[in-house]
Amino acid sequence: MFMNFRRVKKCQFLQLISMCCIMSVLMVCWEQVDHHVVSHVKSYSYRYLINSYNFINKSFSVTREEADSFGSFPFLINHDNICADSDVFLLLFVKSSPENLERREAIRSTWGNQTYVKRELGVTVKVVFVMGIHPDQHKRSALQKDLYAEDEVHGDLVQQEFSDTFHNLTVKLLLQFRWAHAKCSHARFLMSADDDVFIHMPNLVHYLQSLSQQHVQELWVGHVHRGAPPIRRKDSKYYVPVQMYQWASYPDYTAGAGYVVSGDVAAKIYQATLSLNASIHIDDVFMGMCAITVGVSPQEHVYFSGEGKAPYHPCIYEKMITSHGHENDIRYLWRVATAPEVNE
Ligand SMILES: *[C@@H]1O[C@H](CO)[C@@H](O)[C@H](O)[C@H]1NC(C)=O
Ligand SMILES: *[C@@H]1O[C@H](CO)[C@@H](O)[C@H](O)[C@H]1NC(C)=O
Ligand SMILES: *[C@@H]1O[C@H](CO)[C@@H](O)[C@H](O)[C@H]1NC(C)=O
Ligand SMILES: *[C@@H]1O[C@H](CO)[C@@H](O)[C@H](O)[C@H]1NC(C)=O
Repeated sequence: MFMNFRRVKKCQFLQLISMCCIMSVLMVCWEQVDHHVVSHVKSYSYRYLINSYNFINKSFSVTREEADSFGSFPFLINHDNICADSDVFLLLFVKSSPENLERREAIRSTWGNQTYVKRELGVTVKVVFVMGIHPDQHKRSALQKDLYAEDEVHGDLVQQEFSDTFHNLTVKLLLQFRWAHAKCSHARFLMSADDDVFIHMPNLVHYLQSLSQQHVQELWVGHVHRGAPPIRRKDSKYYVPVQMYQWASYPDYTAGAGYVVSGDVAAKIYQATLSLNASIHIDDVFMGMCAITVGVSPQEHVYFSGEGKAPYHPCIYEKMITSHGHENDIRYLWRVATAPEVNE
């Protein structure tokens, strides 16, 4: 009897201890749980109630001069004639950085090979690498010399004199839409992609050709983030203070790793950049803000992988359009993508 009593007590004691453990884990992790779960619930119900983002336009409005000043850095490398052909089907911006020469070389000899695309797919694609300057002053001048030499050979770099950092990505977005407006406004489609993305060019071109035949307009397609809440934790690189963005969710936007807009949307986004405060540094969110002020909304396409990597499987690669996170296997993927047995 006495023994039993002891055992019961022991069990209760263990229960108590485990409860305490669970509670303390919960308390320690609460902020994350709160962040991921509660803010999603909050933002979805918020969207349900409000379901319109008219307020963004007004509160982010700036004068034309102020808007211009956000992206008005001098050009170090620029070209006027990249889009001299009258029939540019796709203007493809690759968001690169000065030091990523290897990635650019890999892209030029694989999915960004304009000669291949013209010959095998029959359309004109212009690949333009956009970048700022290296943030480290000591490395800058040597890299800059290399960049001039690289551009001498390929003539496909566009560089502006802003520090090429994560927090200046919106400046790079402005660069793309302003450059497109000034030098390539006749392109049928415009795409923006990271330099570690694999693009299945044959699949992309076929998809866009089918849209083009239907004279599609108002197109903005990619992997869509809906109702994403701003991150309020200071240690995150996506941290956005309330003063910068006060609402509980962002307008819908596509993952910046790879998305396509039609020419008319590119023009509208450009117009939107002329009256919006571009100080929010998350470029794809800023794109969403531009789009909502001109009444454009993004469409989901399952074969744009967003930030994710498409798992390697022949059935997926037969249909995939973009896949993110490829630093070393782009050449391999391209061989697979263009192998005759996959093409038929
Ligand atoms: C691009 O494609 C063409 C035609 O297929 C090929 O001859 C050329 O070697 C390729 N360029 C590079 C840099 O791989
Ligand atoms: C953006 O670039 C400008 C110009 O080089 C620089 O002054 C600024 O510090 C950069 N901003 C960030 C957040 O890196
Ligand atoms: C743009 O927004 C930032 C952050 O919210 C603010 O500090 C800045 O004053 C605004 N700029 C203009 C020109 O309104
Ligand atoms: C956004 O606001 C600005 C300034 O208030 C206004 O000029 C512009 O027409 C608005 N744009 C849209 C699409 O409502």
